[in-house]
This record gives sequence, C-alpha cells and structure tokens, in this order.
Amino acid sequence: MINTSRKITIAIDGYSSCGKSTLAKAIAKELNYVYVDTGAMYRGTALYCHRLGLAHAQSPDIEQIVQELPNIQISFQYNPETQQSDLFLNGENVEKEIRTLEISQLVSPIAAIKEVREKMVDEQRNMGKEGGVVLDGRDIGSVVFPNAELKLFLTAQPTIRAERRRKELEEKGENVSLDEVLKNIEERDYLDTTRKESPLIQTEDAVVLDNSFLTREEQLVWVLDKIREILG
Ligand code: DC
Repeated sequence: MINTSRKITIAIDGYSSCGKSTLAKAIAKELNYVYVDTGAMYRGTALYCHRLGLAHAQSPDIEQIVQELPNIQISFQYNPETQQSDLFLNGENVEKEIRTLEISQLVSPIAAIKEVREKMVDEQRNMGKEGGVVLDGRDIGSVVFPNAELKLFLTAQPTIRAERRRKELEEKGENVSLDEVLKNIEERDYLDTTRKESPLIQTEDAVVLDNSFLTREEQLVWVLDKIREILG
C-alpha cells in the first residue's frame, strides 16, 4: 500500500518516444494524481504556428511566433470516452492532429524558442502547484519543478523507440516507415539536447530508467517502489 495522504510532484524527463507518457498516465491512475503532458502543449503551439505558415521545418519564423503567443490558448479537457485528457487549442480539440508525424517534425524548433518555453513553463507550474501531479517532458526536473520529490529520466534504445512509435502511428491509421520515424526521433533528440534554452539534461538527482526491455507493468512496479520509498 502507498500512503496517498501526502501529495508529491513526479517529474519524468527523457528522450522522444521513450514511453514517458504511458508510464506517467499509469502512475497518475494508480495514485489518483493529475497528469500533465507538457509535450502536447508544445505540439499544440506548433500546430497553431503551422496553420499560420510560421513553422517552416527547421527555421520557424521566431519573431512572428512570439507576436502570436498571446493568441495561443492551450488547455486540457477530460475525455470520458478515452478516459484521458485531450489537448485543446483555442477551444478546439486537436488531440489527433498534434500526434501526426508532420507535427513531430515541426515541434522541436518551436519548442526551442525562449518565449514559447516561458509561456509553457508558467502554465505548467500553475497546473502543478498543488502537488499530486505527474508531468512528463524534457525540462520538468531541471526547470519546471526542480524541487520535485521524484525525478525520473527515461531512456531506451533508438530503434526500439522508433518501432514503438511506428506501431502507435500505424494503429492510428498513419503508415510510415521505421526509417522515417527513427530519423525523426534522432533529429528531435539532437535538437532537444543541444538547444540553448533548457535543453534535455539528466539532472544529478534523477533516477534513470532504461525501459528497452521492460514491459509497461514492470516499469510501473519499479516506479511504485521508488514512490513507496519516498512516501514511507
Ligand atoms: O514529448 P513529445 O514528443 O510529445 O514532445 C514534443 C516536443 O516538444 C519534443 O520534441 C520536445 C518538446 N518538449 C520540450 O521541449 N519540453 C517539454 N517539457 C516537453 C516537450
């Protein structure tokens, strides 16, 4: 049994397509915590920019995007059908659109813009201020909640991550090659770890989990053990 009277903050960071959100959702369900998919917020912003023609692959129109930021409203709403939270962009449910490979190919350069990050980080801190929250992303343990009681750093072999993501896209009706997905994952890893603004790093106090050969259940058991140690 886990003592759930104390509500902690759980930060999950790691490379693209490592299964961070799957694990985060499972933890949130187990503990009855709020789950915040911070990547979805950057994806929603990228979609908005794309629709205005400002995303341009590797060189987004930074000045214009910064000007548009006050017009971008990102929120989550619970979907009783899927029992998960959907991402809303200015009141429109864009959950499906933000998960396509096209948006995956545009999002990292937009997430590297300082002003975009400031806006998202503010909103994420606000969503998690009461504790009892699991957030996944790239800068949660390093920037958004540096005092999080539990910080996890997820990793897995790139080809394993690519195959998982390819399968996921296929299940949603998007047929793309393994090579295409792997290329996208490697590009995003590179951009996310080398950007100037809050790059993905493994903080010293993070616990590393390589889930290349672990099932979802095994990962959850492993994390719940860590949580038990913290909560006593
Ligand atoms: O986790 P994801 O693949 O949905 O994230 C989409 C992109 O957003 C990813 O390439 C990097 C960026 N991101 C970020 O910079 N910081 C976060 N906290 C979450 C995501």
